[in-house]
Amino acid sequence: MSTTPVKVAVTGAAGQIGYSLLFRIASGALLGPDTPVELRLLEITPALKALEGVVMELDDSAFPTLAGVEIGDDPNVIFDGASVALLVGARPRTKGMERGDLLEANGAIFTVQGKALNEHAADDIRITVTGNPANTNALIAKSNAPDIPAERFSALTRLDHNRALAQLAKRAGVHVTDLKKMTIWGNHSATQYPDIFHAEVAGKNAAELVASDAEGTAWLENEFIPTVQKRGAAIIEARGASSAASAAAATIDHTRDWLRGSADGDWLSMAVVSDGSYGVPEGLISSFPVTTKDGNWEIVQGLEINEFSRARIDASTAELGEERDAVRALNLLG
Ligand code: NAD
Ligand code: LMR
Repeated sequence: MSTTPVKVAVTGAAGQIGYSLLFRIASGALLGPDTPVELRLLEITPALKALEGVVMELDDSAFPTLAGVEIGDDPNVIFDGASVALLVGARPRTKGMERGDLLEANGAIFTVQGKALNEHAADDIRITVTGNPANTNALIAKSNAPDIPAERFSALTRLDHNRALAQLAKRAGVHVTDLKKMTIWGNHSATQYPDIFHAEVAGKNAAELVASDAEGTAWLENEFIPTVQKRGAAIIEARGASSAASAAAATIDHTRDWLRGSADGDWLSMAVVSDGSYGVPEGLISSFPVTTKDGNWEIVQGLEINEFSRARIDASTAELGEERDAVRALNLLG
């Protein structure tokens, strides 16, 4: 085992996602069994007591890879020296709150955290935003951290990607491990577009296999796409709380694959800063098909986008543009 622990900061650490996420990071699921990890956990002041309880449970788990835990309510202290920051904590939408109110409340959190990362994070920092609205929160944090390269910021659409894999596997009667090249485009919201036109089922084109006739097209339009787009809401309806364990698992998948690399012959979905590829306006944090290697990502180039996909990608990126304009009007973009 190497000796210097990697500092991993997690915000919203006493929340639901935190309760799954911390134990997986501590057990080596993020950085591997040979890398000691120091957890640096941020919460708001009233939640620190609950967080102390979670730390007792981390201690009691006696994880071989857990080198230490620091907790606090000051991002300037907690982000100090962090190489990975998982920004999970966010203000949930409460009764009577409009989307604009949510953007403003979270804007206040992500401006402060962006600035703190800019000042205190390690030079090799990689940032994953899970807290909603994830893409725009990542944009706010990035805009308030001018010294951190833009490509170090990402937002989570891996949960959507995993949901799409699960739905396609069910339809095709295969296991998720038989699938490759799924893509989520756009926003982590109900406008996102899960694209199977480039996906493969055991080496065969997925759309040709499951959506080539009228019944298949109806499944794609009326079942597959809406099921993936509305899965978060369906879980809230069923559980009375938003997805937590699967969101934590996806946060690990996303960040692990970013740091350690995507599999040969496959790609991942990550929301990253657009360079204008596929007509997505430059500067938006939008989900793309990406390959990763050694902590870097590249947008997969050269995919043919049919009319069906074009309209859906454009709708989701238009929504991202509106969110960007709303937070710009609130002076949250640094
Ligand atoms: P939760 O309410 O259980 O936990 C959130 C925690 O964040 C709370 O403990 C709260 O005290 C903390 N927090 C609030 N403001 C903070 C701040 N300024 N600094 C540090 N901590 C702060 O919520 P959860 O179920 O864990 O979900 C967290 C977020 O993840 C929500 O925004 C949720 O909508 C989002 N989410 C995203 C995805 C995705 O795929 N991107 C999936 C599921 C949930
Ligand atoms: C999810 O996709 O499960 C969540 O983003 C849903 C939500 O609104 O918290």
